[in-house]
Amino acid sequence: MSAKKNPVGVYDSGVGGLSVLREINRLLPNENLIYFGDQAKVPYGGRPIDELRSLAEGVTRFLLKQNCKSIVIACNTASAAALKYLRALYPGLPFVGMEPAVKPAAELTRSGKVGVLATPSTFAGTLYASVVERFAHDVEVFQHTCPGLVSQIERGYLDTPKTRQILETAIQPMLESGVDTLVMGCTHYPFVIPTIEKITHRLARVIDPAPAVARQLKRVLEQADLLNPEVKAGNLTFYTSGDSHKFAQRIAQLIRIDVIPNQVRWVEQDLKQIERTLR
Ligand code: DGL
Repeated sequence: MSAKKNPVGVYDSGVGGLSVLREINRLLPNENLIYFGDQAKVPYGGRPIDELRSLAEGVTRFLLKQNCKSIVIACNTASAAALKYLRALYPGLPFVGMEPAVKPAAELTRSGKVGVLATPSTFAGTLYASVVERFAHDVEVFQHTCPGLVSQIERGYLDTPKTRQILETAIQPMLESGVDTLVMGCTHYPFVIPTIEKITHRLARVIDPAPAVARQLKRVLEQADLLNPEVKAGNLTFYTSGDSHKFAQRIAQLIRIDVIPNQVRWVEQDLKQIERTLR
């Protein structure tokens, strides 16, 4: 089989990368996609860089076993920790990663004040520092880690009082300081944009980088001559290292796809597929 028909692997700590998968599937509906959510390890946000690299390496090995022709690290935290490292380890493999969308935010803001919501590990990484240094000289950047928000989204609590309170704590002071542009620097957060808009009353623009990442994947596949020429709809296959039944519920809730995800688990540094259990 030609490599062009091989799947693209999409990877996140949990359900966040589904916001990226959805856009990839919209833009490139004929591509076969394999999604892996590392729900046994979510949240990634506070984990040390060495651990994030080792996890990303294990996931990459697993996705290569599924014959992936390219890998999208649909996670800002894992991209910040491991993207450069993986590119050096697998020089022939086209990777696409995430970086907080400070550049478009700096171009779009009128008040000159932008807010970034991301995990502690993303803010601590050199990738974020370099993005701010390159693109944010003329704007003031406000940051917040939204503690607990990733776990709320993993549970499907998109608009509960606790979720609202986490978002209000992060966003209200930004609005009071004049922030008019908010960057979703974590792939989980686009799923709470409707809740964010209840707080901002749509007075701040919200930037979800997922469509830009999908376009970047298209460019990368084009350049590598790896676009799938088939016209029929691609297959979507899902794996989780967490609970596959709960994952199925989240996939249905968040991106309206009914599937039975495959169950894998970490055995030392590697992911192994295990039999499906029927409930
Ligand atoms: N969705 C991820 C990100 O984009 C990771 C969130 C987490 O696991 O803490 O950063």
